[in-house]
Amino acid sequence: MYPVNIESVTPGMKLGVPIRDANENILLNRNIVITDRYINRLKNLGYQSVIVLDDEDTADLIAEDNISEHTRSVIRAKLKNSFELSEKMIKEFKDESIKEIFKNIRSDKFKKNFNKIKIYENLQGVIGQLIEQVLSNDVLNGLNSLKTYDNYTYNHSIDVVITSVMLGKKLGFSVSMLDELALGCIMHDIGKIFIDRKILNKQNKLTPEEFEKIKEHPTLGHEIMAERRILASHVTYQHHERQDGKGYPRGLIGNNRVKREPEIGIMSIFGEISAIADVHDAMISDRVYRRGFPPDIVIKFLINSAGVHLNRELLNKFLKFTPMYPVGYKIQILNGGYKDYFGVVAKINSENLNRPIIRILYDHDKEKIEPKEIDLSKEKDIEIKCIKD
Ligand SMILES: [Fe+2]
Ligand SMILES: [Fe+2]
Repeated sequence: MYPVNIESVTPGMKLGVPIRDANENILLNRNIVITDRYINRLKNLGYQSVIVLDDEDTADLIAEDNISEHTRSVIRAKLKNSFELSEKMIKEFKDESIKEIFKNIRSDKFKKNFNKIKIYENLQGVIGQLIEQVLSNDVLNGLNSLKTYDNYTYNHSIDVVITSVMLGKKLGFSVSMLDELALGCIMHDIGKIFIDRKILNKQNKLTPEEFEKIKEHPTLGHEIMAERRILASHVTYQHHERQDGKGYPRGLIGNNRVKREPEIGIMSIFGEISAIADVHDAMISDRVYRRGFPPDIVIKFLINSAGVHLNRELLNKFLKFTPMYPVGYKIQILNGGYKDYFGVVAKINSENLNRPIIRILYDHDKEKIEPKEIDLSKEKDIEIKCIKD
């Protein structure tokens, strides 16, 4: 069970996770046999990949989400509702100058009306369920959810919460701190409601003016959320800041430590946690303008960003629960007697996260072979990489 490019999905494959429409009604159930008609439907919904149960050699490998499909669906619906209500409230002035927008959202009238949406209150209960589910996991599945044009921000926000809560757990946060962190993460991109969808989903390089506009989303988001949850809103404000001070909107810096006193001009731990979760999810996920990168490439990229972009100590903690080769993902062997054989990741070794048990299924001529499992924690010289079709 692994993500397959929609162009490579063939009739007869079975769906690995249910597909829902924009109103969260189930359109296609898990286990359903995919037909040409369904493939077209999935394309129309904007799926660039889907999770399929391929054949009996891999059907036992379930790439589980870290939260239940039901919880994800409930949060997505509530988030959509909150975003749409907020969007309505800013409709009249969203295309004006930044100065005008700030003037509007700082007015008492706006604040009073905005508070009526009760965003945090509506999400609190189900976020509590999410936290409980994440706390019962030791390892992230490392795949993250499949996203479309319509649900990108909602699924992205949920994935950022999951990763951040896992990090908070490793730091020994109390339940109320985890709550605060999760509420901040779920709303971290709320400021994007002020930015034109055309800019957010642009396929080509952004113009300097467009990028300047995008860079306003943390400040705008912070402005409308901060009043009720000061700590949570640090996430909204700081998730694009960097350790080297080259992030936005304020150019805060970090000291690459986990334990330290809060200081002016230095990123808060909430900001640093969300920065890692945000970059990881943004890279691994399909976007309108490109497909997601394979998980091993993303992890290597994050390692290279340590100390410069991401808090080094914190990233080391993240790497201890996020596997480079998630269960069910296709891999290729790069050296040794099985060079250029293909297979899948069969089991994560929690003692040695990046040396999983793999199951080889095809030889170097792509001929099917009798499945054979290899424990990479024992076969230390074998190198593999994730592959996408
Ligand atoms: Fe953002
Ligand atoms: Fe984000």
